[in-house]
Amino acid sequence: MSERARVVILRELLPAGRERLERSFRVESLGLDATREEMLAGAVGADALVTDLTFAVDGELLDAAGPQLKVVANFGVGYDNVDLAACGERGVTVTNTPDALTNATAELALALAMSAARDLPGAERDLRAGSWRGWDPRRWRGFELSGATIGVVGAGRIGGRFMELVSGFGGHRLYTSRRRKKNHLEEKLGARHVELDELLRSSDLVSLHLPGGPETEGLIGERELGLMKPTAVLVNTGRGSLVDSVALARALEDGRIGAAGLDVFAGEPTVPPELLAAPRVSLAPHIGSATFRARDEMSRIVAGNVTAVLDGRTPPNPVS
Ligand code: DGY
Repeated sequence: MSERARVVILRELLPAGRERLERSFRVESLGLDATREEMLAGAVGADALVTDLTFAVDGELLDAAGPQLKVVANFGVGYDNVDLAACGERGVTVTNTPDALTNATAELALALAMSAARDLPGAERDLRAGSWRGWDPRRWRGFELSGATIGVVGAGRIGGRFMELVSGFGGHRLYTSRRRKKNHLEEKLGARHVELDELLRSSDLVSLHLPGGPETEGLIGERELGLMKPTAVLVNTGRGSLVDSVALARALEDGRIGAAGLDVFAGEPTVPPELLAAPRVSLAPHIGSATFRARDEMSRIVAGNVTAVLDGRTPPNPVS
């Protein structure tokens, strides 16, 4: 009998996916604390690598695995950590986990929007510090989303779902996207397709739903923040690289924008210190997809992608 294919999970895959892989393959999991050196050593001889957004999947790692490597199954919808060209040159298929986390991430974007608009972290800090002196008509006044103009930057699955969620607030809806979404966003939700500058100028809430990578890096910097309303709320659940954190912290500090809700940061897990110190900012540790349902389903999707490639079939979610 031929030896079963070897799947190396370079960090962690939840049991919902790992157990499925273990039924068919030899599976090794390096664990959440695996160092780069341990990954390079652990990858040797793998037919499949399960990867995630926290580390680079580059030529070095692919070469360490060896020429038998067939698939890199990224645990996440984003794959800016994967060098697609390097995978392509080596004939390695890359897959991701779309759809499963659409609701979870869109809901977190809404939670951050509402938290930032009312500065819930600031209010809670105050309360816990014992500085609450009773109901005060002047304090903790924030912004309402009802009737607001809401701008979605990047109207893919998650941006589209976010737009559905916020459509209950009434007001106006704007979006930017490479391709227009006439049926879903324009006809059903009454959203208007505009250029980024117009969206930034007009929106009371701007929610970013773009992937990371060189094309989107620094999309929101000093100039773009300068276009926004002084009361506007900026939410980012895409990738930290989309926003210049120094410029954002300055804009919050100077009151040039209203508030921010951030789930993602350049250089995670380090959070830019200027953002930790900034006022009116709600922060979360990259938990957009962190629901029981989404993370289990993502794990199952990873297993399905690996299994398909190792069985010689086209995987359900190829990105290359
Ligand atoms: C993704 O899937 O790309 C998310 O950022 C991880 O939750």
